[in-house]
Amino acid sequence: MKFEESKVLQHLPKQFFANLVAKVNAKAASGADVINLGQGNPDQPTPEFIVKAMQEATADPEDHKYSLFRGMPRLKQAAADFYKREYGVDLDPEKEVAILGGSKIGLVELPFALLNPGDTMLLPDPGYPDYLSGVALAQVKLELMSLSPEKQYLPDYQQLDPKVVEQAKLMYLNYPNNPTGAVATPEFYEDTVKFAKEHHIGVVQDFAYGAIGFDGKRPVSFLQTPGAKEVGIETYTLSKSYNMAGWRVGFAVGNPDMIEAINLIQDHLFVSLFPAIQDAAVAALDSDQSSVKSLVALYQKRRDDFYAAARKIGWEPYPSGGAFYAWMPVPKGYTSEEFADLLLDKAAVAVAPGTGFGKSGEGFVRVGLLIDEPKFTEACERIGKLNLF
Ligand SMILES: Cc1ncc(COP(=O)(O)O)c(C=O)c1O
Repeated sequence: MKFEESKVLQHLPKQFFANLVAKVNAKAASGADVINLGQGNPDQPTPEFIVKAMQEATADPEDHKYSLFRGMPRLKQAAADFYKREYGVDLDPEKEVAILGGSKIGLVELPFALLNPGDTMLLPDPGYPDYLSGVALAQVKLELMSLSPEKQYLPDYQQLDPKVVEQAKLMYLNYPNNPTGAVATPEFYEDTVKFAKEHHIGVVQDFAYGAIGFDGKRPVSFLQTPGAKEVGIETYTLSKSYNMAGWRVGFAVGNPDMIEAINLIQDHLFVSLFPAIQDAAVAALDSDQSSVKSLVALYQKRRDDFYAAARKIGWEPYPSGGAFYAWMPVPKGYTSEEFADLLLDKAAVAVAPGTGFGKSGEGFVRVGLLIDEPKFTEACERIGKLNLF
């Protein structure tokens, strides 16, 4: 028998970065010593106290049972306490917190949970490619908000087509931003709440890199904005702050109707997470956050090391305020994909072309700050020899 995928699955977006990975692997297989700056996978180990908490939890038979469908109350309480302590935001742990098996799950299932087929949603361009999976699965109409360096990669709501704004029901934001490293300001979030209320648009702010801000500036939470909870939610993940990307744990916080929609869809899809992972997540969130401070200092050093090496060859970065990426301009005469191909081919340095994140990523490539010196210097020296800047 032969089986065909459903029409919905046939319309899933193609994985742009699968192609990049194949190119990098082929180059490495040819014997080249590739410096891979193309990835976004945290390279540091999970802090030991979290691993220990997990080891102890796995020894507890209580943690081997089904979790409560909507997650363990102590994890929801820990998420609420974390937001109160870190951002001064009050949350009802039962009504305003939803546990997620990684924030990707929440971001992909949300359009399905909140919209009907044919409804319109707004996504940032450039943006995290997995948002598009949610658009395809929910069969909703996508409209892009083009972001530009001139406007600090923040959407200009006045520039959006009024017809699109009228139809839009949901909007995603992501600050600190992947891929650009841009950060949001409190004023921008105030405008966002105003815009969302005026046009009845739900806001989902993806705070995956919330812990990672540079130059002593802590990224603000959307929920710190007066009125934010009336219009939207924020998704948070333990993947980046605590190097727990493989553990798959995060949460969404904010508007109770949106939280209920997430919980309802998840009642049908999952039985929450392995309780031991939830206990380890409680240990992470309840901790004194000194591991996060050290991690941010490491990314800051890497960003500074990479910028210094790039500037030495005349390659001036777009200034990144957070996340763990450098957003680097492409020299004249190349598209971002051509430039990325050239760097891989001639310098054995892999970077992610900006267009992998959307049309408005043209003119830039993304560098992951996920290796240490002296590799940045070596990568930039190799690129410098191509005399492109
Ligand atoms: C912008 C952004 N959002 C969400 C995620 C998903 O993170 P996770 O599913 O590990 O919580 C990522 C991961 O790379 C990301 O870059």
